Amino acid sequence: MNKKIRIGVLTAGGDCPGMNAALRAVVKKAILEHDYEVMGIEDGYEGMIRNRYRHLTYGDVSGIITTGGTILGTSNSADPYAYAARHGNQATKKDVSKTVLNNINKMGIESLVCIGGDGSFSVASRLAADGVSIVGVPKTIDNDVMGTEVTIGFDTALSVATEAIDRIHSSAQSHHRVMIVEVMGRNAGWLALMSGIAGGGDIILLPEIPYNIENIVSRVKERSRRGKKFTIIVVSEGAKPVGGQVVVKRLVNYSADPVRLGGISFTLAEQIEGITGIETRALVLGHLLRGGTPTATDRVLATSLGTKAMDLISSRQYGYMVGITANQIIKVPFTAVANRQRTVPADSSLITSARSVGTCFGDS
Ligand code: F6P
Repeated sequence: MNKKIRIGVLTAGGDCPGMNAALRAVVKKAILEHDYEVMGIEDGYEGMIRNRYRHLTYGDVSGIITTGGTILGTSNSADPYAYAARHGNQATKKDVSKTVLNNINKMGIESLVCIGGDGSFSVASRLAADGVSIVGVPKTIDNDVMGTEVTIGFDTALSVATEAIDRIHSSAQSHHRVMIVEVMGRNAGWLALMSGIAGGGDIILLPEIPYNIENIVSRVKERSRRGKKFTIIVVSEGAKPVGGQVVVKRLVNYSADPVRLGGISFTLAEQIEGITGIETRALVLGHLLRGGTPTATDRVLATSLGTKAMDLISSRQYGYMVGITANQIIKVPFTAVANRQRTVPADSSLITSARSVGTCFGDS
């Protein structure tokens, strides 16, 4: 009897809603249409390095389309080409990619599906160059992966952020305050921009448009003069003043990308209240944006991209990430995705529309 083809699947990088839905799509199609054997690698590239994996059955992924996070676990700090050996809070990095290549042979897998973001695809691109048969499925709440207009997890984070901004309105209006809502996104402002527009933010601050505190203060004062006794500000964690720096919450020196942003909203709150005398409060949504059940849109996207990835695997088209552009599911070479982040273009029609309804971006 012919030995079944064995493939591997991993979820890598920051977790987000929809990762399980994508995993389910990959595993169900692999089993139902191709009768493949599927190995689930645990905790992203950490599992590839430590040879941790398990057999995945149809039953294992049944019913997980509604579940947030990933049943396989993930890691956003393990890079086989710069793997951090930790000594207390010190870390030395070394290339353990040979171990990964050996483990792939030991696992007996012919090819691999990586459900990940830009960091994970930078690794995948190098593994592909080292001869690994690998395909990528884009996920991240940051929506900053090149080659795709949207990533799995973004729509859910957008709806969570928008709901939070809606809720904060009643408190701002009741206390005549400036309320600042800080959202994740690293160096890309997609989440702040779209939740700011959807939530009716008066001021939206993006990493892509350095702000001037005077412009923010004058908008707050102008609203107050016009009888609008409250102001809603939506700020991306990666926003910064003209000629200034981002606010770094902490450095994770064992992580491939050590910088963890966060806290700009508190800096802004102090400045605005200090200058205007108007009570100002800040709120950081943080990891709340990464939790919970995925929206219907994210479940559909995850299912479409997951099954497309299996088409590439079964037709042995390796070295690509699947994506969506103009409502078409496409494939993009890893080389066009690796080591790059898709940020908001300055001439984005979304920014133009927001300006047209009076939104301030802190640059004028
Ligand atoms: O990339 C996803 C993301 O949530 C970013 O928005 C955020 O800056 C970072 O990950 C937080 O990483 P961690 O979970 O390690 O704190």
